[in-house]
Amino acid sequence: MAKVKVEFQDIALAFGKTQVLRDIDLVIEPGEFFALLGPSGSGKSTLLRVLAGFARPQAGRVLVDGKDISAVPPWQRDIGMVFQNYALWPHMSVRANVAFGLEERRLPRDMIKRKVAAALELVGLQEFAARRPSQLSGGQQQRVALARTIAIEPKVLLLDEPLSNLDAKLRVHMRTELLALQRKLGVTTIFVTHDQEEALSISDRVAVLDAGVIQQVGTPLELFDRPANRFIANFVGTVNMFAGTLRPGADGMVFESAALGALSLRGAPAAAAGEVEIAFRPHVVTLAEAGAALDGGLIWLKGSIAGREFLGEFIRYVVKVGTTEIITDQAHYTEAHTFAPGEAVNLGIQPAQIRLLAA
Ligand SMILES: Nc1ncnc2c1ncn2[C@@H]1O[C@H](COP(=O)(O)OP(=O)(O)OP(=O)(O)O)[C@@H](O)[C@H]1O
Ligand SMILES: [Mg+2]
Repeated sequence: MAKVKVEFQDIALAFGKTQVLRDIDLVIEPGEFFALLGPSGSGKSTLLRVLAGFARPQAGRVLVDGKDISAVPPWQRDIGMVFQNYALWPHMSVRANVAFGLEERRLPRDMIKRKVAAALELVGLQEFAARRPSQLSGGQQQRVALARTIAIEPKVLLLDEPLSNLDAKLRVHMRTELLALQRKLGVTTIFVTHDQEEALSISDRVAVLDAGVIQQVGTPLELFDRPANRFIANFVGTVNMFAGTLRPGADGMVFESAALGALSLRGAPAAAAGEVEIAFRPHVVTLAEAGAALDGGLIWLKGSIAGREFLGEFIRYVVKVGTTEIITDQAHYTEAHTFAPGEAVNLGIQPAQIRLLAA
């Protein structure tokens, strides 16, 4: 199948007085697995609906394969959409559900039979063809919805929170299956989720939406390591953030804040001087027992354990530092020292892992 490019150009959409999408400019490359990530109500589903033709923007254009499809009705767009609730026909068998779109297209019977069989094989549901949706697990129903959409061989595949009804374990399993399937088909895919882990784990690139505005577009690593602003830093992963002033000192730049006092940020560029925010992730903070020898390469602060959460692979500690708190994740090993609530600790931050965000 020929892989197609999808372009949103200056899309703006309002429902009455509520502006839902603003100036959306986005290019999704042929064959890409692209995620739309954002909080509830940020406009993710609406953007998919614009592409599928179910919502009409007041401004802007949508291009598929270089052609403006703004005036093309939904059923002629060659775009397959898997809805969040699957929307399967309960009274029809799996086979009939998958055949539905093909029958609507009035394809010859034997061709429909072949395509249905191929789609069911692709999602591993050949043996379930005669069952009703109610006789399937949530994960199997999701695969039927996928098979039904794939069967019509769309140029673009839209998935609106397709994993949201599954339990945690099945979700993780299905997301890798979904990616494998997408790679096999090579179809340009846009995947909507509000789960940042899900978006980061399987996507080639991610666009983060907030209140109808694209905040950042990038690879999962780019979003995590170089968040464009405080919204992204907060939304993608867990982060410690402090506002203050960056100024030149005797020995490189110094970050000064009411919460943390003066921290030497030698590597920070002089050009960034002024009001800034620093951001660092929980896992770049080391904890050391009071009195332990301290690595000179880190920035050390004194604190005390305010709380802890055992998360299996690591323990997440909340450390009270002066009047503020810092979150740190410590890898957990059997027999490793664990810190007790109230315990005095030294807290070491890797300076190279501190990001500067414009305030
Ligand atoms: N038909 C409609 N009429 C009026 N407002 C609408 C309509 N559809 C959506 N909205 C509003 O547009 C905004 C964006 O909705 P949308 O469904 O795109 O959000 P979303 O990012 O998909 O959220 P969720 O993660 O909860 O699914 C919301 O504030 C919603 O209330
Ligand atoms: Mg939605």
